Amino acid sequence: MLKKTLVVAVVLTLAIGLGLFAVKAQSGDLEVFSWWTSGGEAAALQALFDAYAADYPDVNIVNATVAGGGGSAARPVLQTRLAGGDPPDSWQIHPGWELFGQYVDPGYVEPINFLYEEEGWNDVVPQGLRDIMTVDGNIYMVLVGVHRGNGFWYNKPLLEENGITIGDTLSAEEFTAAAETLQAAGIAPLCMGDNGIWANAQLFENTLLGTVGPENYMKLFAGEMAWDDPMVISAIESFGAMQDYLNTDHTSLSWDQAVKALMDGQCAFNSMGDWAYGEFVAAGKVDNVDFGWVSHPGTAGSFMIVADGFPLAAGAPNRDAAVGWLRTLGGLPAQEAFNPLKGSIPARTDADRSKFGVYHNWSMDSFAADALVPSWVHGSAAPAAFQQTLNDAVTLFIVDRDAAAFAAALVQGAVDAGIAG
Ligand code: GAL
Repeated sequence: MLKKTLVVAVVLTLAIGLGLFAVKAQSGDLEVFSWWTSGGEAAALQALFDAYAADYPDVNIVNATVAGGGGSAARPVLQTRLAGGDPPDSWQIHPGWELFGQYVDPGYVEPINFLYEEEGWNDVVPQGLRDIMTVDGNIYMVLVGVHRGNGFWYNKPLLEENGITIGDTLSAEEFTAAAETLQAAGIAPLCMGDNGIWANAQLFENTLLGTVGPENYMKLFAGEMAWDDPMVISAIESFGAMQDYLNTDHTSLSWDQAVKALMDGQCAFNSMGDWAYGEFVAAGKVDNVDFGWVSHPGTAGSFMIVADGFPLAAGAPNRDAAVGWLRTLGGLPAQEAFNPLKGSIPARTDADRSKFGVYHNWSMDSFAADALVPSWVHGSAAPAAFQQTLNDAVTLFIVDRDAAAFAAALVQGAVDAGIAG
């Protein structure tokens, strides 16, 4: 009896060992496509590659990037490849409309329910996040991190030198007062790098959220509130007033160059998702010493979700390696290595908080307690066509400052995109 048990145990151990070996013994190339090229983004991406290489040392990682914050340059290149039947093995995606409209509907991605079941991710990834990656019971991506889009960063020493103290929150009126003080001292109050227009569109998105509040923000995208509602007009006007506070060279800078300008004391505040935090880390800056943060004016109590993840390409050139890549990404070691460098928080709720600094713990608290709203600028809240409507409307508005025309463009864009009530 004992002998039999022993034999069974040995056979089982061997089988499990061989099974694991089969998973790990992968080779060939793994092509991963993203727009993570800034200092902080590249360092964080490398942490994912390192985690993957530790799990699957024989695979050659091909890092395919197309520079340009927010992916505005990368996505068209990717679409051309996908339409031509030349997919990378995996690529960067935002959940929600971007995932569903651009990748699930055309059949470019495979469901990966089996991974969620095998790895136990249904127990550690919040339902709300899984929902925005799931259609008809099929889940299509693995999140590596969740960015908070409504960050408002500032150069702490610069504000102190100018007698400005920032509390736990900042109202629109308090920001205006600080901005006037800075402007009088010859300092550009608001850092902007909008050579990719999305960065200025994000200033609008945050201002909209701060003006209408999270419930109305959701109503707008559900077709339950008009895009030319007086509150939206008011947000457009506040956004217009902020344009007068920008650094004069904003159209020639990228988002990360604007963060650098903040660090260098050339301007004071920056309304940006917490990938900006990745730039501070990459430059060796210290939380609450060199820089500080609050929610974008009026948005305390809301968390603008800009989540990042990766799918399994349908027809992936190296499917086994791509599945292994996703297994690594969903694991704790990868998420605990990546997020401190990227600025986002893990998509898993079981990460060790002591491995994260002051900012990350603040953001985790916000995620747990605040109203969660999806980002329009980063593809989750609305179809791609309406994202484009916003970018075009912002481009025009910066020149003509016509709030009524801006709102009219949004009204029409919502109809065209099929999300009007
Ligand atoms: C977002 C993305 C972030 C960050 C940012 C700037 O769309 O989700 O991870 O990379 O663009 O490039």
